[in-house]
Amino acid sequence: MNLHESEKAAGILRTLGYEECESEEDADLILFNTCCIRDNAERRAKGNIGAAKVFKRANPNLIIAVMGCMTQQDSAGETMAKKFPHVDIILGTNNLDKLAECVEKVRSARKRSVLIDPCATPEIHEDTPVFRTSGTNAWLNIMYGCNNFCTYCIVPYVRGRERSRTLVNVMDEFKRLIDEGYKEVTLLGQNVNSYGKDLGMKNGFARLLEEIAKINGDFRVRFMTSHPKDFNEEIADVIASSKNICNNIHLPVQSGSDKILQLMNRHYTRDYYLSLIEMIRSKMPDCGITSDIMVGFPYEDDKDFEYTLDLVNKVRYSGAFTFVYSPRKGTPAASMPQIPAEVSKRRIVELVDTQNRIVKEISKQFEGKVLRVLCEDLAPKGAGKVCGRSECGRMVTFGGDVHSIGNFYDVKIVKSQSASLFGEVVK
Ligand code: 5AD
Ligand code: SF4
Repeated sequence: MNLHESEKAAGILRTLGYEECESEEDADLILFNTCCIRDNAERRAKGNIGAAKVFKRANPNLIIAVMGCMTQQDSAGETMAKKFPHVDIILGTNNLDKLAECVEKVRSARKRSVLIDPCATPEIHEDTPVFRTSGTNAWLNIMYGCNNFCTYCIVPYVRGRERSRTLVNVMDEFKRLIDEGYKEVTLLGQNVNSYGKDLGMKNGFARLLEEIAKINGDFRVRFMTSHPKDFNEEIADVIASSKNICNNIHLPVQSGSDKILQLMNRHYTRDYYLSLIEMIRSKMPDCGITSDIMVGFPYEDDKDFEYTLDLVNKVRYSGAFTFVYSPRKGTPAASMPQIPAEVSKRRIVELVDTQNRIVKEISKQFEGKVLRVLCEDLAPKGAGKVCGRSECGRMVTFGGDVHSIGNFYDVKIVKSQSASLFGEVVK
């Protein structure tokens, strides 16, 4: 989400004549796009914003701006404005459309802007220019905001309620991206499975995927994030029957304990989640399923954590983002009793070890198999090597050069190493 929003900011700035530069020292403008999902994201952003003071000292004409979720928290805008006098522009999550105007004000009169509108139900800005920087993949927002209010999560407070883009607008952008030559499109939303509910559509996400499935061409579609409570058989059927929609689903479980899931306000049980996995695998045996998992949520005891480990062992995710719970001011869980940091630390190590072992085992099973891979980039290490993902989302490194990027290859896997696969092109 944030990457794509940065692409929108870049699109707006390019209309004013700005271009990307190599280093902060060369910059006429530095824009920080912030995140506040966990404390360490916020601390890093604050550290970087504070450190930018030196660039302003060296170049007094430098414009420094801050956008993104951090600014939208309760009174964060005013606090930031006081704490960072070197920052010229502070924009809330629904004020990006004012970026150009604010930059002009600083350029012409060195006038500071702090614009943070309430974000609960803002309108969707359809005409924001986008400067895409993500290579073969294009991000595409299908909706904004979240209605779920998981008790640990700040997102509903800083991104407002769910607002879906119309089917016509999403499909127009989708077709444009394919015409422009993008080989992969990732549909974005906090909870894509509830796409269209606010527009009165019934099972809107399945409808949208059906429309996308009708479009022919050599491209791939991915989507994120799915909420288990809204993922259903109809959605799985469309994915299973479409050639272009990847069998790859990010389905965050958060915890394997019913007690914790209820305290998190997730609206599903562990058994329901496991039955979803079974349903998905019965229709798509090779589906890559990934997850977000948290440890150290209030009231999580050893038994609850065992349930999480047990679920991870049962599901065998092809990948997982693992987090230590971080209290967010203003959310219900922040006022629940917190568990000791050393307990969370112990649990996250065990969870990561378990998940790493599973990924290694799954990787091994790919050896000798042929995967269809979209070449995305030159490999970070090794001359003459390129990399890209398989349909199920695994990163594969194989022989190629800059001309390989953007093409599909059948790659035979010859070696695996943790989460990485290495192969040779067979076609
Ligand atoms: N602490 C830790 N992890 C969090 N997430 C969301 N809020 C928090 C929090 N307060 C995680 C969830 C979510 C992912 C995007 O970030 O696992 O799925
Ligand atoms: Fe946060 Fe829950 Fe919404 Fe995801 S579904 S953005 S975790 S409130």
